[in-house]
Amino acid sequence: MARILQKRPLTPVTKLFRVEAPLVAAAAKPGQFVIVRVREGGERIPLTIADYDRDDGTLTIVVQEVGVTTRYLGALEVGDDILDLVGPLGMALEIPAEGHIVGIGGGFGAAALLCLMRELSAQGERTTIIIGAREKNLLILIDELAGVCDDLELCTDDGSAGFKGFVTGRLAQLIDGDGPGRPDSVVAIGPMPMMRAVAETTRGAEIPSLVSLDPLMIDGTGMCGGCRVTINNEVKFACVDGPFFDAHQVDFEEAMRRNKMYVEQEQESQDRAACRSTATEPA
Ligand SMILES: Cc1cc2nc3c(=O)[nH]c(=O)nc-3n(C[C@H](O)[C@H](O)[C@H](O)COP(=O)(O)OP(=O)(O)OC[C@H]3O[C@@H](n4cnc5c(N)ncnc54)[C@H](O)[C@@H]3O)c2cc1C
Ligand code: FES
Repeated sequence: MARILQKRPLTPVTKLFRVEAPLVAAAAKPGQFVIVRVREGGERIPLTIADYDRDDGTLTIVVQEVGVTTRYLGALEVGDDILDLVGPLGMALEIPAEGHIVGIGGGFGAAALLCLMRELSAQGERTTIIIGAREKNLLILIDELAGVCDDLELCTDDGSAGFKGFVTGRLAQLIDGDGPGRPDSVVAIGPMPMMRAVAETTRGAEIPSLVSLDPLMIDGTGMCGGCRVTINNEVKFACVDGPFFDAHQVDFEEAMRRNKMYVEQEQESQDRAACRSTATEPA
């Protein structure tokens, strides 16, 4: 069990939780994730370790509510327990620690950059973070991210904050030498289409790039095969071989297709949950 010590809404559908998990915090490294089960009989879902504090034994996770389990989690309050929390899982991020490193985050991926970019900045690297969202109010953790890098670049689709356009538009400008300048390496965490676009933007410029893949996961230990991805024509399991992979070698077509495999079942599960909550609402 992991007790919730702090809850902070970041957007209407995104919540930050600080939870008590001393053993996981003691072993956690940037880029790793946990698998949580919110309630008895519920499914297990992977969540990135956005941050950890070894001294007070806590983890920070950021949850974007997209379906039944993330909504159950989002509804928990301070003092509630997350039924199971297992981790740290996956391989820690290994970036060649030299030059100008640019971290790119979309959605919950912006939170996932927190401990990762802090660690790289502490090693003395020059760091830039680019985060993007549809509009200003959906950008998350701006102050915290500004504190862990040399330059923070904001992008919004509607131009309400920072660069008007996608993160890849601003990335292309940096590659051309604008602002903090050309990256020596890039790491991207966020929705699959964004990571694929980052890969295409850095491929021609031959900038080494890593992406954190988020396939469907079940056990998180390499046994079920659910998180299979193809990297450079080889089968890999994101939970044990990843989640970070060379962006230029990922078969994104297949990864995106596999993530849509259970759309019908996910919808049925959301419909069932909606029926249950309507049935229990007071008349
Ligand atoms: C290594 C890893 C780290 C992750 N870190 C985070 C995190 O820090 N914060 C966070 O909010 N989410 C994270 N995710 C995604 C999260 O696990 C899924 O959103 C969650 O499992 C959805 O469960 P659900 O029951 O709420 O939704 P479901 O009903 O299962 O799905 C609802 C919708 O979300 C889509 N979806 C389901 N699973 C995924 C997935 N793995 N990736 C992308 N889309 C998915 C479905 O296609 C569907 O459209 C991570 C995934 C992985 C593999
Ligand atoms: S989640 Fe089962 S093999 Fe990766």
